[in-house]
Amino acid sequence: MKRIGILTAGGDTPALNATIHGAVVRANQLKLEIYGFIKGFNCLFNPQVPHVHLNPLFQAIPELDPTKGGTLIGSSRDYVDPNKKDELDLIASRLKRLGIDGLICIGGDGTLNGLQPLAERLPTVLAPKTIDNDLGLNFPSEPDEWVRTSDPSSKSGFVYKRSPSSAVFDLDQIVNYATPGYATAVLVSAQGVDRVRTTAESHRRIAIIEVMGRHSGYIALGTAYGQPDIILIPEHPVDMERVVDRVKYLYDLQKNVVIVCGEGIVDEQGNEFAESRSTDPGGNVVFAGAADALRERMIHMIGDSYFQRYRRGNSAKEAIFTRKVGHTQRGGRPIQFDRFYAALLGSKAVDLLIEGRNNAASVLQYQASKGFHVEGFDANRFRDRWGLIHARYMHRSLYDPRLMKPSKMGIDYLLPIFTDAIGSDDAEHMRQTLFDPGNLVQPYHSINTDVHKRIRYIDGAHTD
Ligand code: F6P
Repeated sequence: MKRIGILTAGGDTPALNATIHGAVVRANQLKLEIYGFIKGFNCLFNPQVPHVHLNPLFQAIPELDPTKGGTLIGSSRDYVDPNKKDELDLIASRLKRLGIDGLICIGGDGTLNGLQPLAERLPTVLAPKTIDNDLGLNFPSEPDEWVRTSDPSSKSGFVYKRSPSSAVFDLDQIVNYATPGYATAVLVSAQGVDRVRTTAESHRRIAIIEVMGRHSGYIALGTAYGQPDIILIPEHPVDMERVVDRVKYLYDLQKNVVIVCGEGIVDEQGNEFAESRSTDPGGNVVFAGAADALRERMIHMIGDSYFQRYRRGNSAKEAIFTRKVGHTQRGGRPIQFDRFYAALLGSKAVDLLIEGRNNAASVLQYQASKGFHVEGFDANRFRDRWGLIHARYMHRSLYDPRLMKPSKMGIDYLLPIFTDAIGSDDAEHMRQTLFDPGNLVQPYHSINTDVHKRIRYIDGAHTD
């Protein structure tokens, strides 16, 4: 193997550059050339295959900064379609013309789903990333627990459900304990909770803060570090009576309440609070409005008189407000935990290719007795018996639905990730850069401007 390719697919996450950096450092050690493909799989659909040589003379290009969020090679939500054989063959022939002997895709479950058809054409491995922390398994036999029933109304003609589990859940059994990007997303979200609290306290309000995560509640669970009063996650249907009782109790006690909800929360009938039923190009549901829908239900159930009685506002509408943490949880500088393990996972992906592994992923494993380490894991072991990879749901035992907070096991899950997740340089970086007077006079200099100058095309042509 002389030359490998690397791409970043799906939504950006804070540690993508760190993963690429880890792969490049390892490639340098092994004297392997590494090309970065521009804008994820989109690049492979482009006959010109715009790419950047990331390690000329086996040195990382200076634009590759592992402490910067986003991805210097760009990303998109384009994925390969396993059924489009001609398109896949075309991709393989383009990569061959470029002299690519192996491919590393940095992505989430959507990317992993498309790995097999590529792996049938050239050695392909995955390095994981996603703030949702939903790439992995709660235990190795989890894929076998999916059952499929036909449903003509769904796009694929089938619906997939989990059968009751026969496995004992144990933190040491988790496959891919945490994905790069998750810790930074939790940091931003927990800080958001902490900051919104003071407004809620000062103005006697009830705040509902919505975090990302699609159908998985890991980010919401992690916001426990910001000490919200109530956490609602997609894996447990929201019991509105219980929420309202708890809100009233807390409001009577402390004159403010802070609630965190995952964007994919569902009610007791299994209906999502979020209204939007659209999908992104990767086929993922785009959620919008979970916090607003929760607010509407609370306004209706609590009523204006409750607030008027205590002279704490004229109406429920005035007292209950919503905020989305939004894309700030996905952007910016990755904290130490994400940077460090992202780099190891990127490096491991190179090793997997060198070891001759194909259709495999590098994963982050945790054992209470040994701590974290990276391993290779065959991608097929993520698939159910029909070949589909499902996003990981947070295991229900990590959450206490009565307290609406992390359970004891949930706390045990969070501790190894977060206790030392922030490095001293993370705090120092903010101190040195945020109020740098230069920021006031210099325009923002985008990484895209510099990388653009390095882009090469398959036939040497330079077009935009
Ligand atoms: O999968 C990552 C994620 O941030 C989800 O948590 C969220 O639902 C989605 O992407 C939003 O994506 P975008 O706004 O980029 O379409």
